[in-house]
Amino acid sequence: MGRLIVISNRVSVPSAAGAAGAQGGLAVALNSALREHGGIWFGWSGQETEEFTGHLDMQRNEGVTTATIDLEAQDVEEYYNGYANRTLWPLFHYRIDLTEYDRNFGEGYERVNERFADSVYPLIADDDLVWVHDYHLLPLGSILRRKGIKNRIGLFLHTPWPPTRLLASLPFHERLVASMLEYDVIGLQTTEWLESFLHYVQKEMGLTVNLDNSIEYQGRRVIARAFPIGIDYAEFSQAAKSEVAKEAHQRLRDSVRGRKILIGVDRLDYSKGLGERFESFSRFLSDHPDMAGKAVLLQIAPPSRGDVESYQQIREDLERKTGHINGAHANVDFVPIRYVNRGYPRAELAGFYRAANVGLVTPLRDGMNLVAKEYVAAQDPEDPGVLILSQFAGAATQLKDALLVNPHSVEHVAETISRALDMPLKERKRRHAALLASVKEMDVLHWLKQYVLALSGVEKGSSALK
Ligand code: G6P
Repeated sequence: MGRLIVISNRVSVPSAAGAAGAQGGLAVALNSALREHGGIWFGWSGQETEEFTGHLDMQRNEGVTTATIDLEAQDVEEYYNGYANRTLWPLFHYRIDLTEYDRNFGEGYERVNERFADSVYPLIADDDLVWVHDYHLLPLGSILRRKGIKNRIGLFLHTPWPPTRLLASLPFHERLVASMLEYDVIGLQTTEWLESFLHYVQKEMGLTVNLDNSIEYQGRRVIARAFPIGIDYAEFSQAAKSEVAKEAHQRLRDSVRGRKILIGVDRLDYSKGLGERFESFSRFLSDHPDMAGKAVLLQIAPPSRGDVESYQQIREDLERKTGHINGAHANVDFVPIRYVNRGYPRAELAGFYRAANVGLVTPLRDGMNLVAKEYVAAQDPEDPGVLILSQFAGAATQLKDALLVNPHSVEHVAETISRALDMPLKERKRRHAALLASVKEMDVLHWLKQYVLALSGVEKGSSALK
């Protein structure tokens, strides 16, 4: 089998990854993938230059080779802040109210995808497997094909796939999806997103979907399948036992002086349901006067995509809400919500998770959500905390023994917080054991293996018809 050429918008250099602490699930998973297979991780450096030069910065760190390019300011504005994060991200998270449609964004998106293709093309050897990630780069496979790349090329989408009727609001949606059908494998996180995708190609494009969910397209067979991503369980559970984690655990515990701890860890993103979560916690405090001063919500929320207005807005909303709730429920020696706008190294996070009685993972819509899995992995199996999980996170299809909630219902989440805090040890252990089994089995290595098998075309039924 050839090397892996992983292509994603953001490249996380492994040695810096732990310290950054604010990276999304994508970065965490791919470091493991590249260490396993060898190859190159290509993407944007995160740097802006005045003019695009196409210069490739190649580095090797901790067994992973990275190759990055800088983008010019207009690219960043139209492609990253524009089409990726003002158009596709909100649309794919069912937020057409926040979706902006601007022709310049679309052009910038195409241009940057071309630039990615031009830059990565010379790095691809004959039997390499090319693996493209996420919504920033949907048309990249088709551009590489146009340049004559014959390798197997796959896409994995980390976000949800929207229902057909929502996607239809996007100008040129047919062209975008048609470009995706140049991939050999299209991976989605869950069967729900997969079904939406297949619905689109059938209803909007009139294509035939086979019983194995492969799609017939221009004489080829495109595999479309759900590959639910996992965490690096071995790495994370080790991190949870480290000295750093123990210290973080102790520090947090000492600071609350016997109070119960609820924890949330999310990028500061409107899809994460943070406002609703804060309201739910506030409702819980109002409904349970006996708990006054006895439970703390630690919300870690590193800011994200700060040049995009909807992110500035959610940040302001949360600041106002936190102030309001803290003002209403605080006492001279107690503040109910600890709202922290920074990231933490993974080992410290693991310690915080372990110290928390409840993990609150309540996105309004989420492709998978790896925080839910990390929370489970970090628990002490003899005295585990309780996971409260949104039914709208992809993770809910696997983590069925969590307390599943509708994050829009403040009352429901408030009641569930109460239930979680009162849950007897026996039930906590039973639920945790079931969750842990799933997190361990469906870890990132499993995900990687399944995807790479499908991409390399060696498994039964996945051969191209070419
Ligand atoms: C999500 C996306 C990733 C992205 C991450 C962080 O997990 O699926 O592709 O890298 O968020 O967002 P950012 O815009 O900072 O890269």
